[in-house]
Amino acid sequence: MEIQSIRPNEFLSVDGPASIRVIDGKLYVLGAEYGPGSSFTVMRGRRIIMKSLGDSKIDAVLGPDGKIERIDGTNEVIDIWDHELSKIHLRNSVIVVLGAMDVGKTTVTTMLVNKGVREGLKVGVIDGDPGQNDIGPPTTISASVATGFITHLTQLRNLRSIFVKTTSIEYAWDYVLSSISKLVNELRHNYNADMVVINTDGWVSEPTAVRFKLEMVKRVGADYAIVIRRGDEINDLLKELMSTARNTIVLPSPPNARVRDRDDRKIRREMGYSKYLMPSRELTINLREKPIVNLPLFNGLKYDNYIMRLIRKSLNVSIHYIEQWGGVAVAIGNVKDFQIRSIGGVSVAILPMNWEMGLLVALEDKDNYLLSLGVLRKIYYNTGKAVISIPKSFNNEGLIDHIRLGMIKVNNNYEEVEKTLYISKIESLLFSQNILRK
Ligand SMILES: Nc1ncnc2c1ncn2[C@@H]1O[C@H](COP(=O)(O)OP(=O)(O)O)[C@@H](O)[C@H]1O
Ligand SMILES: [Mg+2]
Repeated sequence: MEIQSIRPNEFLSVDGPASIRVIDGKLYVLGAEYGPGSSFTVMRGRRIIMKSLGDSKIDAVLGPDGKIERIDGTNEVIDIWDHELSKIHLRNSVIVVLGAMDVGKTTVTTMLVNKGVREGLKVGVIDGDPGQNDIGPPTTISASVATGFITHLTQLRNLRSIFVKTTSIEYAWDYVLSSISKLVNELRHNYNADMVVINTDGWVSEPTAVRFKLEMVKRVGADYAIVIRRGDEINDLLKELMSTARNTIVLPSPPNARVRDRDDRKIRREMGYSKYLMPSRELTINLREKPIVNLPLFNGLKYDNYIMRLIRKSLNVSIHYIEQWGGVAVAIGNVKDFQIRSIGGVSVAILPMNWEMGLLVALEDKDNYLLSLGVLRKIYYNTGKAVISIPKSFNNEGLIDHIRLGMIKVNNNYEEVEKTLYISKIESLLFSQNILRK
């Protein structure tokens, strides 16, 4: 425990884990003001800058690696952020927060939440970053409504999530777009949100990323695009945004932001999976009743032994199971890697044995909302059943409409061991033949 006195307009930098209680005076933190008796926390791995609005006294409790220090405010961005964000007319607005990795998107989103709360608004929030989602588990985008001040998006209750199959946005951006628009509508119409803030992923530099972000701003009908600039990472996107009629606000990124490397991000996701899925139990699902939407096993054409023998011979692979829909067949065979072969005008996608083991999947309701994440353990081809590990506490089995396969494999410790592309390749095949519909 540490009592500190702070002079007016003095800045403090706090590295979590830390808990701060205001004894006297007033602090400005992420768009919110904290007076005597109020308190807030700073999470592990995060840094928050606070500013004293008068002569203040605080009581700081620091956890391991926690740190609190006075900083020179000249390079600090929070006043500029506050000033720029004050130009926004929050009520009825849709705001998209854009920028590369670690520039402060999540922090700006948090600030906008607090500013809305301060105006007495019901603030809809969407975390659109499936890699570092703070509202729901990794591989999803999630929505919440805030009615009180927060210091971290993780404090918000997850109301709705949509599973986007992967954390690598470049393989899922089309679905992410439609899912974010869907959540905006849901928040506005079913949760009566007075405004919606959308936090996004850090994929911004490549041409496809620029297109994706522009399309997002358009599709959600954003009134404001907030762009956090660090160097020239986001120049192409910014140029395009400026030529649209939307309000674009450019913010500087904090010079002393904590950056996370690839491993930090991976570990954080793995903690996200295990926190969500543990303790777990096994659920057996009859795939004839609750099908896999992106791989419609057990409703296609089966072959008799004679044709099976011909196929084996023609492919020169031992095939354990095969099923056909029009011009596409999916086989499980004795191959090392996924492959697509062609026999007599039919594209045969061959999956290796145990291809399903450890694959992240979603149990979804009839509207494609996430009911629960799960880990696929095994598919029994003779009975058409699947065994899936799910959280022990899951009790919405009656609402399960279908399963959606993801593109990440995890081991028993929920460590990401493989990012698979075969799911999306099979999906494209099935789409191209109109066997699956978007
Ligand atoms: N004004 C600031 N000064 C220093 N560090 C900051 C500031 N604002 C945010 N940070 C820290 O910088 C890191 C990255 O911010 P974050 O909002 O998570 O970025 P992004 O969502 O773009 O990846 C976090 O640890 C955050 O606590
Ligand atoms: Mg973020």
